[in-house]
Amino acid sequence: MPAIMPSSTPRSPPGGAALDWSALLAWYDRARRCLPWRAGPGETADPYRVWLSEVMLQQTTVAAVIPYFVRFTQRFPTLATLAVAPEEEVLRLWAGLGYYARARNLHRAARALAASGAFPRTQAALRQLPGIGPYTAAAIAAIAFGVPGLAVDGNVARVLARLLAIMTPLPGAMAEIAGAAENLAEATAFRARPGDATQALFDLGAGICVKSAPRCPDCPLQDGCEARRRGLASALPRRAAKAPRPERFGAQFWLTDAQGAVLLRRRPERGLLAGMVELPGTAWREGRAWAEAEALATAPLKAEWRKIGAVRHVFTHFVVSLDVYVGAVAAFSAADLGGFARPAAALAEEALPSVMRKCVRMATGSA
Ligand code: ADE
Repeated sequence: MPAIMPSSTPRSPPGGAALDWSALLAWYDRARRCLPWRAGPGETADPYRVWLSEVMLQQTTVAAVIPYFVRFTQRFPTLATLAVAPEEEVLRLWAGLGYYARARNLHRAARALAASGAFPRTQAALRQLPGIGPYTAAAIAAIAFGVPGLAVDGNVARVLARLLAIMTPLPGAMAEIAGAAENLAEATAFRARPGDATQALFDLGAGICVKSAPRCPDCPLQDGCEARRRGLASALPRRAAKAPRPERFGAQFWLTDAQGAVLLRRRPERGLLAGMVELPGTAWREGRAWAEAEALATAPLKAEWRKIGAVRHVFTHFVVSLDVYVGAVAAFSAADLGGFARPAAALAEEALPSVMRKCVRMATGSA
């Protein structure tokens, strides 16, 4: 009896023939998105804007990034302006994007680059900068400097998993996909326009080869797509079942004085939301909510505390549920309470992380 061969994943042939880069680039030339960090046809990309966009896009979608990118570059139009900015201002413009360590790394890198006077052009040199890993280095090198190398983000991974009908579930399939990407990027048509080819895959993943209902009839790669041939496009990539996020619980206190000032404090310089501003509160502990008396024992001072609701926020590795307590006193000494006071009406100017903005909105009834 013949051995039963496992249903194998087709490997892309040498030279990247499995991906018709010419068809993809022709489509990109017609259908490319106009994005504020993107050079127009025939224009030279600005490495600073490319770098900034890639760091912002590490954590959220293109649609969410655009307004942050526009505000940020209005205030800091060049590397030099960012390099001399106070960190507080950088963080303020970043607030809402999350992952503030990335903003700090960006700022540190800007200072180092401004001092050195040159923007690194190779993946290896880019990876020396704080906050730049293999994906971001490949993306910047290709888009800003035309260095061949395919950056594989979530969109690109999905396109390649379908094109090659990779059956291994993500995230385990990433090594296989990265190997295929390296192979595909050897094609002459890719090497001629690596930045455009990379961005074409981003656009294809965002608009055509989308997660749940891929628009295969509109796809420039449909003829070579193995998933489409086998009727598997919307089933790929497979995903390993995710463990549910653990839940943490805490309480935050909104304390105001007769002048309408609110008590804030700064989080420790290391760890989650390092150095960010927050409402004072309990520790965030896993698995067990804080009973009211237990939470109030940690309040900044004795007051008539009123629990007005709970805020839920999803972080990458856990979900937190925070009871929000409101209290008012005639006066408090912020320094004695380990924090600082700000007019409640001026909190829009503070670099508050999103989870704290939610608490503030609840406390002020603007939720
Ligand atoms: N996703 C990651 N980088 C991107 C870029 N430069 N353009 C569009 N989408 C992206």
